[in-house]
Amino acid sequence: MKILVVCLGNICRSPIAEGVLQQMAVEAGLGWQIASAGTNGYHTGEAPHKYSQKICRQNGYDIGAQRAARFKVSDFDTYDLIYVMARDVYNEVKQLARTEADLQKVQFFLEELFPGEKREVPDPWYGNESGYEPVFQLIKEGSEAIIAKHKIITYKENF
Ligand code: 4NP
Repeated sequence: MKILVVCLGNICRSPIAEGVLQQMAVEAGLGWQIASAGTNGYHTGEAPHKYSQKICRQNGYDIGAQRAARFKVSDFDTYDLIYVMARDVYNEVKQLARTEADLQKVQFFLEELFPGEKREVPDPWYGNESGYEPVFQLIKEGSEAIIAKHKIITYKENF
C-alpha cells in the first residue's frame, strides 16, 4: 500500500507523520511506502523544520533526509490512501479530486484515533518550540491507530 500524508507546508506536521508511520509500518511487517506533501508550495525542496527534526530525533526517528514537495493531482493515481492533517488541507485536496474514487482516498489522519470527529492535528508553525512535542505525540498516537487497524485487516485477510 502507498500512503501520502498531506499538510500545508510539508515541513512541520506531515514530515513527522511520514517518518513515524514509515518506521512503524516496517516494524509491523507491513510493506507500506509512506510519503508526504503540502498543499502550498512555499517550502518546496526544503528539509523539515528544525523543531520537527529535533522532536523526531529525540524519539528515535530521523526525518532529516526528507524534502518538501507540493501535492499534485497525479498523487491521486500514485497513492492508495491520502491522509490530511486538517480541514483546510482536506478542502484543498478535495477541490483537486477528479472523481468520486479520488475523493474516497482522502481521510483525516486522526480518523482511526477519533472516528467520525474530523479532529485536526494543530499546526505548530505559528507557535514556539513547545508546540512540537504535543503535535509529535498526537501524530504518534494517530499512527499507532492506523497501524493497528490495518494489522487487523491484514490478519483477517490471511485467515
Ligand atoms: P505544516 O506547517 O503545514 O505543518 O508544514 C506550515 C508550514 C509553513 C506554512 C504553513 C504551515 N507556511 O505558510 O509557510
